[in-house]
Amino acid sequence: MNHPAIRNGAVAVITGAAVGIGYAIARRVAKEGMDIVLFDRDAVALDVATKSLLNECPGVRVLAISGDVTSDGDLHKLYEKSCEFGEVSLLVNNAAIIKGAGPWDSLSKWRTLMEINFWSILTLQHLFVETMFSQKGHAAIVNLGSKEGITTRPGNAAYSVSKAAVKVLTEQLTHELREKVGDRISAHLLIPGYTFTPMNFPGMNPDTPKPDSPWSADQVADRLIAKMAAGDFYIFCEDNESSWALDQRRMQWSADDMIQNRPALSRWHKDYVEKFADSIKDVAGK
Ligand SMILES: NC(=O)c1ccc[n+]([C@@H]2O[C@H](COP(=O)([O-])OP(=O)(O)OC[C@H]3O[C@@H](n4cnc5c(N)ncnc54)[C@H](O)[C@@H]3O)[C@@H](O)[C@H]2O)c1
Repeated sequence: MNHPAIRNGAVAVITGAAVGIGYAIARRVAKEGMDIVLFDRDAVALDVATKSLLNECPGVRVLAISGDVTSDGDLHKLYEKSCEFGEVSLLVNNAAIIKGAGPWDSLSKWRTLMEINFWSILTLQHLFVETMFSQKGHAAIVNLGSKEGITTRPGNAAYSVSKAAVKVLTEQLTHELREKVGDRISAHLLIPGYTFTPMNFPGMNPDTPKPDSPWSADQVADRLIAKMAAGDFYIFCEDNESSWALDQRRMQWSADDMIQNRPALSRWHKDYVEKFADSIKDVAGK
């Protein structure tokens, strides 16, 4: 049994849907009979995605809207056109960029990244949640998090900050929704592992062979559907390098930085690197 928001004839709205995880989710829910709104700033890739979706899932209605999640006007257009298209029961806030900035790097890089990775989610949440309240059926919002927003690996501060913000926002959202409407509208945080998409493999095409380490985007989409059906909020994906057991140890280590008053990000601190490696010996590589 699927999550009740994933149902025949209702509409799924997906941002950043032309390629990668967004497209895989679109295809996966189209196979469940949902009508699909694809939103992306890459008009050419969007056209390819629309044709391929219609080809693979004949009978499904697809609305493609080209626009940028940093534009309020484009987001309002997405909202209005989606509501005209049908009853929106699923919103997937997936669009993001990884190219970030270090802690004292240029503010304009920070602003761009935060506008794409965080503010667009908040804006769409504002628009669609009210509509979901006014509808009678079940609905769900899926926001794309990342392990980089949980264990916050150094090297791309802006991306980690944006994904940490999405995590907290989605936790707050699901709590408030539960208090207000019980389980009729739920929110979920999807946390992919290393995934075979253009974000990690720029310029990839359908013939590019998948290396061993990453999961495919389809695996991520399948995990989302299975875990939403189970009612999970945190929807983790491992990959072929990092097991769930290893992810659990990494998260525990991060939380223990505060509890044990270790330096921040001690996993990468010269005095702790070996201690961390020791602590995962029994699960590393499994
Ligand atoms: N790929 C991974 O390993 C991985 C891991 C953890 C989390 N994630 C998250 O999963 C989500 C999808 O990642 P992906 O790997 O499929 O990404 P991707 O880069 O392969 O695809 C992202 C899509 O979003 C679109 N997009 C980007 N900026 C946009 C904007 N301003 N307006 C409209 N569309 C825009 C792009 O055109 C592209 O089609 C992201 O939120 C990402 O942070 C990915």
